[in-house]
Amino acid sequence: MLQLAVILPTYNERNNIARMVERIDTALQGFVWEAIFVDDNSPDGTAEEARRIARADPRIRVIERIGRRGLASAAIEGMCASAAPIVAVMDADGQHDPVLLAGMYEAVTSGDYDVAYASRFAEGASTEAWGRPDRVKASGIANAIARKVTGVDLSDPMSGFFMLRGETLRADAHRLSGVGFKILLDILATVDAPLRVKEFPLNFAARMDGESKLDRTVVFEFLIGLYDKWLGRVIPTRFALFATVGALGVVVNFAVLWLVLSVGFGERFVYGHWQGSDRNFIVGNICAALAAMTFNFVLNNELTYAEKRLRGLVPLVKGWAKFFLTCSIGILSQVASTEALKRLHVADALAVLGGIVLASVWNFALSSKFVWGKYG
Ligand code: GDD
Ligand code: MN
Repeated sequence: MLQLAVILPTYNERNNIARMVERIDTALQGFVWEAIFVDDNSPDGTAEEARRIARADPRIRVIERIGRRGLASAAIEGMCASAAPIVAVMDADGQHDPVLLAGMYEAVTSGDYDVAYASRFAEGASTEAWGRPDRVKASGIANAIARKVTGVDLSDPMSGFFMLRGETLRADAHRLSGVGFKILLDILATVDAPLRVKEFPLNFAARMDGESKLDRTVVFEFLIGLYDKWLGRVIPTRFALFATVGALGVVVNFAVLWLVLSVGFGERFVYGHWQGSDRNFIVGNICAALAAMTFNFVLNNELTYAEKRLRGLVPLVKGWAKFFLTCSIGILSQVASTEALKRLHVADALAVLGGIVLASVWNFALSSKFVWGKYG
């Protein structure tokens, strides 16, 4: 009978797969197990390498996701894809030692614990071999904040190496946020029943090959994850991001307008029949709108839609043009709805605000499908 599934989310880990399978095999002698690599269509061919090994060893399985990114969602989908009663998640780069798996299995099948996890900061653990004092420090701060906000009291709630019963996970899988990388924290903060957790001290090693994917986004994703847990159900996280970017765009808009007006760029540049200051104002407004829109497009592409990011010159220019179109219609709808609200005797400021909210919802709905959507 299948006892245990080990889920290994991967992104560009081609050279680590074979070694990882060997190490799991050694660590789980005597167990009936399977390992599932959940790969997000890595450009280095990780999924193909995993399939190559899987053809010779049916204990190995591969889930390849197209057009998706994310450690947490990969872990969730991997865990839900196994019939094994017990599921574990670990990194595929060798930083997590599979030797701990047997002890963790012992703990969650004993009936004394619901979750077993490996901590980089428990008594007896070490992060020296990692060679990243900067990340150790950042993790310490993030852990402290996470403990405060979620009430989860572990020495390393950010750990990506843990084990639990499949049914514990499935009972609440639909309520997990699946955003970012802090999947264990997400589970512990989401599940209603208090989970009994056993810590295993981990010697967090250096990566075998390749480089970390979390370095660049780790802080940002952490904040997003906290927001998602806190307010995500009232105002969806992605819309909140989109709106925040939009608000920053307003700042850019004013800054550029002010710049053009103070330099008098419009007067020097355009010759027409308008009076000087009008001309300046119109040119300023056009520059400001273009700058703000471009700024919003770039920021949304980097942050709001990070996992669907458009890359390469042609997709970027196309995306920018579509975003421009979307926003232009958005501006029209904003003007129209502000007018309509005013006619309904809504106070001016409120009418303007209503117009802005309506236009943002429109821009968000359309651009998420049209610019960053799969069929866009
Ligand atoms: N499918 C998928 N999609 N896998 C991913 C993605 C993704 O977008 N991003 C990263 N991974 C995989 C990596 O290939 C690796 O197997 C594992 O997730 C961990 O990613 P790393 O890039 O090696 O992360 P790290 O070593 O910097 O981060 C460590 O610390 C975090 C907490 O600060 C890891 O131990 C994380 O698990 C941990 O949450
Ligand atoms: Mn790693």
